[in-house]
Amino acid sequence: MAIDKFVSRHIGPREDDIKEMLKVIGVQSLDELIDQTVPANIRLKKPLNLSNGLTEREYFRKILKIAQKNKVFNTYIGMGWYDTITPSVILRNILENPVWYTSYTPYQAEISQGRLEALLNFQTMVCEMTAMPLANSSLLDEGTAAAEAMHMMYSLRSRAQEKAGANVCFVDELIWPQTLDVLITRAEPLGIELKVGNFKDAVATENWFGAIVQYPNSNGEIEDYAGFTKAVQEKGCKVAVATDLLALALLTPPGEWGADIVFGSSQRFGVSMGYGGPIAAFFATRDEYKRDLPGRIIGVSKDVNGKHALRLALQTREQHIKRDKATSNICTAQALLATMAGMYAIYHGPEGIKAIAERVYNIARLLAREITKLGYAQVNKKHFDTIRIDLPRHVKREDIEWLSVDLEMNFRYFENGQVGLSIDETTNIEDINWILEVFAKAANKPVPIIHSIADDRSVDADIKRQSKFLKQEVFSKYRSETEMARYIKRLEKKDISLVHSMISLGSCTMKLNAATEMLPLSWIEFNGIHPYVPKNQAMGYHELMEELRRDLAEITGFEDVSLQPNSGAAGEYAGLMVIREYHKSRGDGHRNVALIPSSAHGTNPASAAMAGMKVVVVPCDERGNIDIEALKAKAEEYKNDLACFMVTYPSTHGVFESSITEMCDIIHQNGGQVYMDGANMNAQVGLTNPRRIGADICHLNLHKTFAIPHGGGGPGVGPICVAKHLVEFLPAHSVMNNGHVGIHAVASAPWGSASVLTITYGYIKMLGADGLTEATKIAILNANYIAARLKDNYGVLYTGENGRVGHEMILECRHLKTAANISETDISKRLMDYGFHAPTLSFPVHGTLMVEPTESESKEELDRFVDTMNAIFDEIKEVETGAADAVDNVLMNAPHTAEMLTANEWTHAYSREKAAYPLEWLRENKFWVPVGRVDNAWGDRNLFCTCEPLESYK
Ligand SMILES: Cc1ncc(COP(=O)(O)O)c(C=O)c1O
Repeated sequence: MAIDKFVSRHIGPREDDIKEMLKVIGVQSLDELIDQTVPANIRLKKPLNLSNGLTEREYFRKILKIAQKNKVFNTYIGMGWYDTITPSVILRNILENPVWYTSYTPYQAEISQGRLEALLNFQTMVCEMTAMPLANSSLLDEGTAAAEAMHMMYSLRSRAQEKAGANVCFVDELIWPQTLDVLITRAEPLGIELKVGNFKDAVATENWFGAIVQYPNSNGEIEDYAGFTKAVQEKGCKVAVATDLLALALLTPPGEWGADIVFGSSQRFGVSMGYGGPIAAFFATRDEYKRDLPGRIIGVSKDVNGKHALRLALQTREQHIKRDKATSNICTAQALLATMAGMYAIYHGPEGIKAIAERVYNIARLLAREITKLGYAQVNKKHFDTIRIDLPRHVKREDIEWLSVDLEMNFRYFENGQVGLSIDETTNIEDINWILEVFAKAANKPVPIIHSIADDRSVDADIKRQSKFLKQEVFSKYRSETEMARYIKRLEKKDISLVHSMISLGSCTMKLNAATEMLPLSWIEFNGIHPYVPKNQAMGYHELMEELRRDLAEITGFEDVSLQPNSGAAGEYAGLMVIREYHKSRGDGHRNVALIPSSAHGTNPASAAMAGMKVVVVPCDERGNIDIEALKAKAEEYKNDLACFMVTYPSTHGVFESSITEMCDIIHQNGGQVYMDGANMNAQVGLTNPRRIGADICHLNLHKTFAIPHGGGGPGVGPICVAKHLVEFLPAHSVMNNGHVGIHAVASAPWGSASVLTITYGYIKMLGADGLTEATKIAILNANYIAARLKDNYGVLYTGENGRVGHEMILECRHLKTAANISETDISKRLMDYGFHAPTLSFPVHGTLMVEPTESESKEELDRFVDTMNAIFDEIKEVETGAADAVDNVLMNAPHTAEMLTANEWTHAYSREKAAYPLEWLRENKFWVPVGRVDNAWGDRNLFCTCEPLESYK
């Protein structure tokens, strides 16, 4: 083994293992397996044109040089991004900790109690700061949260409003320009009309359904919206408020003046700017709208033993499950960043947050006073952190600009020449004096010297928050670093992540997130940069993004790439909007039918609905393949209106359908475009590509195929890659020139979640062309090895023409339900007793488990998983034959907690040992599940989504 090659660290099986695995599968060589799996007509003829893989050491040198090309200035631009201090205890124990960053979305509640608690804390923090009763556990960013608010208000229209066609959403002109940009994108396909104006002059009319205002607004002004809100609501409309969590420590929160929805970014709660992201948006609303709330809600419930336990609440209301009836397509959100923001609130507590807010306010106030003394005028009357400054006639904006750049500072410049300054928690006396130096020198005045910040003042009484916040115990318990680190560790111990065992979630590609790929994330050269700094301060980022776009274009066979979308579903939406725009540009704007196979992930039809398309479902045949005759018939039936076909390849059934090129031809012949969902790209890289199969556009999930970790449900990055004819429609941005000129923005930040692109960049650079292709082959090998070893007991539902699976497979479990009344859920829960996370449950076929091992798992780990699945199969057989009780058995009672197993009383029909140590290796390495099986129905009936004292849940 070449010890310095990264590929040998990324890939699990060793050479000898591979030989043995091939024997079990029944092929002579890896190439033979690949030939049997990937249809010849779509194989690439040439290797990828990418550089050779770097060693980890070489990559470090490269990325360090790139980092040094970014210049970290003090930035006072504001506009939704602020410098912040990530407490080191959070940085080290969460952001840099693979238990937190490699775990999956907490669908399997029993082994996710730690991150569920962290997200419940986030929700509670949001409810407390906004004074709203219900919050979700994060959205993608502020702009898309605004769009979600608009959609939610639209779907909450009364019957009469619907009947009357009320379609106007009022938007105050002083919201962030990027928020408006995203609203424009998202309004148009649904027929929503945006009415942009000054809220003071606006009067709700019959055709309004909602209004959106920002508090404090884009000028930094704190307006009183109470009267406006009341007047709008009296007309039967809803009001959504964009806000700043830190400001709400001082200002009367929107929940106290009647808002229906409150949303914004939680970035300044300890999550760095990262050149735009990732950051977690928050979204809070009234209790009565809980079923319409986009995203996930963490709720409190109990386990079978009556013990307090958390889980995702009201899961069936998760919008994308409703497919084309959905009002949101959000799936992956920003869980890791929400966790960090929640922890920031816990570490600082109410008094700390208030002190930070007061300090920020007082610095802004001091600057306003001193700058005014120099002859400037403050434009905004009531401020929090931001002051807008009008320059005297003799001072030029350019003077301010070059003087500030000379002192390595960035200010905001308004179109009318005024200057904005937004203060953050990092601003200190030295910074204040530098800012004043700029304004004094530009005005030709002596430079004042400030020695202290008088932080004794608060905002005016009429806008001042009177209510207490962050009252729950968790926000006052962990002030010392020791206590905080132990709390984080306590939560972490309750969760299964990739550092515990393989997570074989089909369609999720839980591969290695290598430490070398992750390390640069913590460097200030990447995380300390505001997305609106002049480009010459972010040259490292631009070099990296240019190269990454080129590499992703090469991998997909496409012409260009937009890095803007923040998740797979966001990529789907962006891609469909690009297709829509393409049709419009050809005078085919009426083309609005999206053909989508029945096996598609729920986000596909949900995204199509968001993009204003009509979803037509194409059935699959008994082999799991898309029914090509049906596809042809539907394509012809809708040929005058056909916009696109959305296809996942290899299919969500885990199969490389050989008719894929024919399918693409059918669509093109009928005037449609082919959109490929890239969730399964891990089976393609280096062997085939979306362009080769005939697609026009795809999204990639960098958080699956390209090594960005799942973070317990985000961050995600869903770039879209397009053929030449679609390049001109890629999303632009209203504030920064991001190199594209097409549709309006689909995310707040010009380049999306730029900071985590470093991970994908490292992955591609270290694997290189050969390593990437090798990774794909081994992913297919690992899946076929598991399939070969489990097919006799479980049965593999679908295979390709030669009997092979792609990089994942669906294990049949329905016969076990019939024979022994043991469901796929029971198997999932029993897997926890063996220390494993369940595979994907009941998607895309009900009553099955979908397994995707990825290339990163070693043969030893695959064997451990297979042995476990076979041991579970034997346990099911015992139930079937009557050797075990039909109800009181290890499967239906799983998972078994230490508390259950050590109780004085043991009344079960099987032994404690059988429950706890069914296989020998468990004695060495046992994961103790913290709670028994969670009662979902109870939790949904008794909905609690904040961390109140235990008594309140009774
Ligand atoms: C096939 C498929 N498409 C789309 C998505 C949505 O991607 P995301 O969760 O990043 O929004 C998923 C997510 O698991 C998926 O498996």
